[in-house]
Amino acid sequence: MGRAGPRTRVVRPGGRAGVRAGRGGGAGRGRDVAAAGLDVRGNRLWWGGTACERLVERFGSPLYVYDAEVIRARARALRAAFTWPRTRLLYSCKANSNPAVLRLLRGEGYGIDAVSPGEIALALRSGFGRGDILYTGNNVTDDELRFALSRRVRITADSLSQLERLGRLAPGTSIALRVNPDVGAGHHDHVITGGPESKFGVWIDQLREAKRLARRAGLRIVGLHQHVGSGILDAEVFLDAMEVLLDLSGGFPDLEFLDFGGGLGVPAKTGQEPLDVRALGAMLSARFGRACERAGRGLTMVLEPGRFLVAEAGVLLARVNTVKRTPEHIFAGTDSGFHHLIRHPLYGAHHEIVNATRVTGPEEFVAVCGHVCESGDLFTHGRSISRLREGDVVAVLQAGAYGFAMSMQYNSRPRPAEVLVDGGRARVIRRRETLADLWRTVEGGKGGKGGKKKPQMNTDGHR
Ligand SMILES: Cc1ncc(COP(=O)(O)O)c(C=O)c1O
Repeated sequence: MGRAGPRTRVVRPGGRAGVRAGRGGGAGRGRDVAAAGLDVRGNRLWWGGTACERLVERFGSPLYVYDAEVIRARARALRAAFTWPRTRLLYSCKANSNPAVLRLLRGEGYGIDAVSPGEIALALRSGFGRGDILYTGNNVTDDELRFALSRRVRITADSLSQLERLGRLAPGTSIALRVNPDVGAGHHDHVITGGPESKFGVWIDQLREAKRLARRAGLRIVGLHQHVGSGILDAEVFLDAMEVLLDLSGGFPDLEFLDFGGGLGVPAKTGQEPLDVRALGAMLSARFGRACERAGRGLTMVLEPGRFLVAEAGVLLARVNTVKRTPEHIFAGTDSGFHHLIRHPLYGAHHEIVNATRVTGPEEFVAVCGHVCESGDLFTHGRSISRLREGDVVAVLQAGAYGFAMSMQYNSRPRPAEVLVDGGRARVIRRRETLADLWRTVEGGKGGKGGKKKPQMNTDGHR
C-alpha cells in the first residue's frame, strides 16, 4: 500500500464532507432533510402521483418505485450548472442500470460511465452510441478488454498492468488513464476511492512509467480520469481534486478530456447541507476554463455522477408483517431487507423511513428490519417514526441509487419488481422475479447444462 504523499487529503465521514451516517443514526423526531417536501395526502405517502399503498396493491410488495420527473429535474439542474461549453456528463450507471432509467438519461443528453461489459452491453442496448460510453473497469481481464475493444468504446486504464495488456491487444488505440490523485473523500471509508488506501488508479509517481508503456505501444493517452469517492457534499473537495489533474495534465500532450468522476452526494439527514450544485458547476467551470486558456487548449471537462441523479427519485416500499416487542426493542419486520437495500448494514448509511400508511401520528422508537436470516438485516437500528402496525406500508427513501443495483437473491428470495412513474402513469420496468428465476441458471434449469442453445459471449466477456 502506498504511503500518504505530501498532497494526501482524505476527507472521512464526520469531516468537512458532512455528518457521519453512523449506526443507528438519525434517531429523533426532527423531520429529516430527505423527507422534506414529500407528497403527503390524507396522511398517506404518495410517490410520483400515486399513493404508495395503491402501488403496492397493484404491483405487489416489496417494490422499487422511481419517479421519472425527479431524475429529469436532477439531470437538468446539473447540466445547467456547468457553464464550461465543453462539458460532458456521463451517467454512472452502476447506481441504477435499469434500461428505462438509461433511456431516460440518454434523452437528457447524458453519456454512460460503465464499469463492466454488462454495463457496456446494457448501454448499447438502451440506444447509447459507442462514442457515448467510457469503460472504466478495475482489475479487468483480457477477455473484458477484448469485449470493450470489439464494441469500440473508449477504455480507461486503471493500472500499469492493464496499460501493458491494452498495448499488446490494441496498439495505437486512444485511451484514458485513471489516476489516484491522492485526494479522497466520502460518506464512509468503503466509498473513498482516492488516497493511499485506495486500490483504484495509477499512483502519481508511476505516471512516468505509464507514459513509457503507452509510448512503446503507440497508445495515445487522450484522457485523465479520477474519482475520489462518493456521497460528497462539500464542493471544495471537488475543486481540490481538480487541481491535481490540472497540474498533471501539462505532461500529457495528446489530452482531449479530463474526467473528474462522480461522487456528488445528496443529504440524507438533518444537519447535512445539500451540495450547492450551481456553485459547484460555476466554480469548476471557471477553474477549468482558466486552466484551458492558460494551456492554450480547449479540453473537455467530464463528470460522471450516479447517486445524485437517481437516489432521490426512488423509494423502496415494503409491507410490515410482524411487529415484535422484546425487552430491549420494538422490531417492525417487513417483507424486504438488506438483500434489496444493503447500504445501512454495509456503510451505516442513513435512509429516512416513512410510515406510508400513516405518515404522522403517535411515534414509536422502532428497529425496522427485513426477513433475511441475519441479525444485521436492518434498515435502521432505531428510529422514532409514526407507529407501525402489521399491514402498514413503509417507504425507505433514497432507494433509487444502489438499491436494486446491489440487490441479491440471498436466502433464495426472488427480487422485487421495479416500477417507473412517468407523466402520471406507472409501469413495470423490471418484472418481479419468480421462484423459477432461482433455478434458471443452475444445472438442469432452463439455460443450464444440457440446454440446446450454443454458448455465446456473455456480458462478462466470457464464453
Ligand atoms: C469511477 C466512478 N465514477 C463514478 C462513480 C459514481 O459515484 P456516485 O454514485 O457517488 O456519483 C463511481 C462510484 O463508485 C465510480 O467508481
